[in-house]
Amino acid sequence: MSIRPLFVGNWKMNKLRADAQSYCDKFCELLSSGPELDADIWLSVPLTCLDTVKDALAGYSGKNSDRLAVGVQNVHWLEKGAHTAEVSAQMLSDAGARFSLIGHSERRQYYGEDDEHVALRAKAAIDNGLAAVVCVGETEEQYRAGKTEQVVKQSLRTSLSSLSAEDCKLLNIAYEPVWAIGTGLAATPEIARDVHRLIRAELQELYADSGAQVRIVYGGSTNPDNISVLCQQEDVCGGLPGGASLDPETFYKLIVNGLGA
Ligand code: 13P
Repeated sequence: MSIRPLFVGNWKMNKLRADAQSYCDKFCELLSSGPELDADIWLSVPLTCLDTVKDALAGYSGKNSDRLAVGVQNVHWLEKGAHTAEVSAQMLSDAGARFSLIGHSERRQYYGEDDEHVALRAKAAIDNGLAAVVCVGETEEQYRAGKTEQVVKQSLRTSLSSLSAEDCKLLNIAYEPVWAIGTGLAATPEIARDVHRLIRAELQELYADSGAQVRIVYGGSTNPDNISVLCQQEDVCGGLPGGASLDPETFYKLIVNGLGA
């Protein structure tokens, strides 16, 4: 079985609801006028835009509409309780989210999240029917010290420690080297290939055949010009752009180029 590519636009902390609406209008216009795209296309939006984007996508029934989903950028592991400002997987699912990013490096770097929390979040997401996009990647210091393999392996093992082979149906992995995020300096295709290969080997060791079907996408300074060669690497099953997903035309072009469509 071949793996359907996945492109996730991570808006991070950007866009007001009116911008989200006009973005979706333009993006759907592009999808309807272009070719059939054999990929899942997800928008990872701020909570305040979730409803707007959900309704906009639900109101679009043109070409590629069945490939679209909206999701969020984090999820709490508990169902409910005294956790001011947190939002549970059940709440997100109830509000129309279909997936969540988990363990993005900005959460790890600025908000102290670690692999143990990632494991809890991923399990809660999947148990509540949300797809998980678990992010791993080494810092610049670790990269320079030649520790990429060790760091990614360890991070992945702990981050996935609560998941079973059955959970792989809703699991996606993003390799995002921290030094490539927002720097304009994407990983070379060779680096992406090697790390994705390593992640695939780990997934297969953990989950056998189920691990062979998990999508592994690359993120970090992707754009419409560099995505094609990155996606040509074995085990690179799509992209997770940040900056390049903020403009609908650029995101659309990135997807088309990534697919070679
Ligand atoms: P950039 O594409 O802006 O480098 O961001 C990548 C990222 O962090 C996506 O989650």
